[in-house]
Amino acid sequence: MVEVRIRVNGVTTPLDLQPEVSLLDALREHLGLTGTKKGCDQGACGACTVLVDGTRINSCLALAVQYDGREITTVEGLAAEGLREAFVEHDGFQCGYCTSGQLCSAAGMLAEHAAGAPSAVTEHLAAGPCELSEPEIRERMSGNLCRCGAYNGIVAAIRQVAT
Ligand code: FES
Repeated sequence: MVEVRIRVNGVTTPLDLQPEVSLLDALREHLGLTGTKKGCDQGACGACTVLVDGTRINSCLALAVQYDGREITTVEGLAAEGLREAFVEHDGFQCGYCTSGQLCSAAGMLAEHAAGAPSAVTEHLAAGPCELSEPEIRERMSGNLCRCGAYNGIVAAIRQVAT
């Protein structure tokens, strides 16, 4: 067992964990924060996305013991002004399983974009950091899959908040 003190949504909780416990399992099974979902459990779907010090990660690929003292934000603590409402307004989900990951990823993506982080979309790079086009959003959100195919609504919701 390893003692870790993970700070989640502003609350620090000491945990005794096996070193192989993922951050996702620590959140869901040890802290009861089940808003973060387990889809593939191998870094392919984005359902488990959380923010670590403001940067989005797949929590299924992270070992909880690596995050001792770090600031984790899950969907339960996400202060994403208008993002949830925009997802509802634009039907940015169907079954909802991917939604918590989509919301965390979108919040992280908007922060990355605001900080001027580059993406692979050359159109955006040519246009400058103020443009958050649909292709740009799709590229930056490509790590989050929606098996219902609600992508148009997701993109519309993010565009509404970004403008
Ligand atoms: Fe982590 Fe799919 S559950 S990426």
